[in-house]
Amino acid sequence: MSYENCSEVSRDVTPGSECLPAGVVPMQLRLPQAFEPFPVEGLVESEIQPFYTTESGALFDGDCLAVLPSIKAGVVDTVFADPPFNLDKKYGAKSNDNLPEKEYVAWCKKWLDECIRVLKPGGALFVYNLPKWNIVLGAYLIEQGLTFRHDIAVDVKSTLPIPGRLYPSHYSLLYFTKGKPKTFRKIRTPIELCRHCGGEVKDYGGHRHAMNPNGVNLRDVWTDIPPVRHWKFKSKNRAANALSTKLLDRVVEMSTVKGDVVLDPFGGSGTTFAVCEKKGRKWLGIELDFAQQIRERLADEDIAHHKNDDFVEG
Ligand SMILES: C[S@@+](CC[C@H](N)C(=O)[O-])C[C@H]1O[C@@H](n2cnc3c(N)ncnc32)[C@H](O)[C@@H]1O
Repeated sequence: MSYENCSEVSRDVTPGSECLPAGVVPMQLRLPQAFEPFPVEGLVESEIQPFYTTESGALFDGDCLAVLPSIKAGVVDTVFADPPFNLDKKYGAKSNDNLPEKEYVAWCKKWLDECIRVLKPGGALFVYNLPKWNIVLGAYLIEQGLTFRHDIAVDVKSTLPIPGRLYPSHYSLLYFTKGKPKTFRKIRTPIELCRHCGGEVKDYGGHRHAMNPNGVNLRDVWTDIPPVRHWKFKSKNRAANALSTKLLDRVVEMSTVKGDVVLDPFGGSGTTFAVCEKKGRKWLGIELDFAQQIRERLADEDIAHHKNDDFVEG
């Protein structure tokens, strides 16, 4: 990484360190930590230092396009990416969520290339976005030789009707692997009950008695992901666009085992990292504007996780 290019600088600059590469935090700003920090050396190049580490993860404060090239090739088991959707939303000061369409797609392809590079053979790549973008990005991933697994429809409750269109009610969660999946753990969800009478919603064609008591196979339409509405589930200082921990529970459980490494290049409020911490996965994270808020979330551990009754086999 070049130290000459001062446009790629970390926001946390102190006198004498004005030209640090993105993701590099001056020594003076690193916090004292009471535990053995996560050993990032095996995963990232030595010149890049995390903004915050826990025992199992490391967070980089910067632009993912500046930080991703410092992650070593083939070290990540699962990538989960929830980028800005180019809807002109106001994230932090450095984010631009209103690019011309071609530029947005070109930008996505750049970080996707890096995500593919850092994945292990058989590793999984999940991309959460509007169907409009994921159609294009999915085609690109196929062109790059990745293996299509699923386009999961994630039902959303709180969108607005658009005149002259169908009511948009799902996001797309693309699931690809780099060749044959090395880890795919079967998830079962509880048999659906009526929330008024408590009775079972389906009759399973008379085969109810033969069904697995642990639940039914997880489908590729997820109607049971709760919105993050209540304050107990979200960060006071970084409340918008947070995903439910239940969605990340599934991604992590399906595609990794304990000790595997998960990368999220668009950390947001830190949902992915909170789930990895709880489930014993290692993690690498990047966030352009809210690294401090993620650190607070992980350090305080006071944000609740959504209830999840999934049963994971294997
Ligand atoms: C949709 S949010 C992610 C939300 C996250 N999944 C959660 O559950 O909280 C997208 C995030 O990407 C960040 N971001 C935007 N451009 C970025 C970039 N170039 N590099 C790293 N992060 C970026 C934004 O600041 C925003 O927090």
